[in-house]
Amino acid sequence: MREVTATILENIRIAENIYSLTFATDEEFSVRPGQFCMVGVNGYPLRRPIAVCKAEGERITVCYQLKGGGTYILAENYKQGEKLSVLLPLGNGFYVEEKERRVALVGGGVGIFPLISCIRAYQGKKQLFSYMGFRNRAAYCMPYELQRSDHLVVATDDGSMGYHGTAVQAFMEEIDDVKPDVILSCGPTPMLRALKKATEGRNIPVYVSLEERMGCGIGACLVCVCEKTDGAHARVCKDGPVFKLSEVVL
Ligand SMILES: Cc1cc2nc3c(=O)[nH]c(=O)nc-3n(C[C@H](O)[C@H](O)[C@H](O)COP(=O)(O)OP(=O)(O)OC[C@H]3O[C@@H](n4cnc5c(N)ncnc54)[C@H](O)[C@@H]3O)c2cc1C
Ligand code: FES
Repeated sequence: MREVTATILENIRIAENIYSLTFATDEEFSVRPGQFCMVGVNGYPLRRPIAVCKAEGERITVCYQLKGGGTYILAENYKQGEKLSVLLPLGNGFYVEEKERRVALVGGGVGIFPLISCIRAYQGKKQLFSYMGFRNRAAYCMPYELQRSDHLVVATDDGSMGYHGTAVQAFMEEIDDVKPDVILSCGPTPMLRALKKATEGRNIPVYVSLEERMGCGIGACLVCVCEKTDGAHARVCKDGPVFKLSEVVL
């Protein structure tokens, strides 16, 4: 992990309330799918955690949703050519075993972004079955990245595009045909709870990337602690953000 002063190459709106930010670092980083970075925003002492979506040599792309003060300032004030303070790469990331050939990816909302890094990493090496959920058609983004999957189902809550329902519902309709060896997921907690309930008893490993409020992003402040099913606690930033779904309390 390093702190870098990156140069912004692009910071553009790609869907309703969603921006794509690409920056160049001074050296190439090796980033595992599911790892994240902490992006500094002027006027805020704490950096914001954002998943790495694409890492191409010295070019890193993250995608973020406008949420509160920090992300609004990032969208408004950070233009091409300006500098950005970033800590990266952080967290453990997703790991798929050699023997796991058929990989299902189930994402919702901003949870699709770390899964795009998985699609890029495993394309051509694994059979990828993606189920990606959006609020509506206006929120749909990154089609070219998602279409790298061998099979893609787009779901919308209001039915304005693709499957009418959640990504988990779409996935569960096909799980018996897909027969995944492993499931990777990221999305809002209710979505992860639904996935946990739906896959219980199926004996398929499920890994999830958790989202917690963060302070430091490097394991020092304990703001991001989550509870594990064995009663222990874990720091989402350092011990995660990826955990086995059966091992965390949601
Ligand atoms: C590992 C990880 C990866 C993430 N990846 C993405 C991504 O790829 N795209 C994306 O749009 N969002 C992602 N998020 C959520 C993103 O960090 C928050 O939406 C963002 O920090 C909100 O900042 P804000 O200043 O706009 O909001 P505010 O609510 O004003 O933020 C106040 C404080 O709370 C923290 N905070 C608020 N919401 C969250 C949250 N959901 N998770 C963590 N910290 C939060 C902020 O970092 C800040 O310190 C990720 C979160 C985590 C933990
Ligand atoms: S954010 Fe500080 S320990 Fe995780």
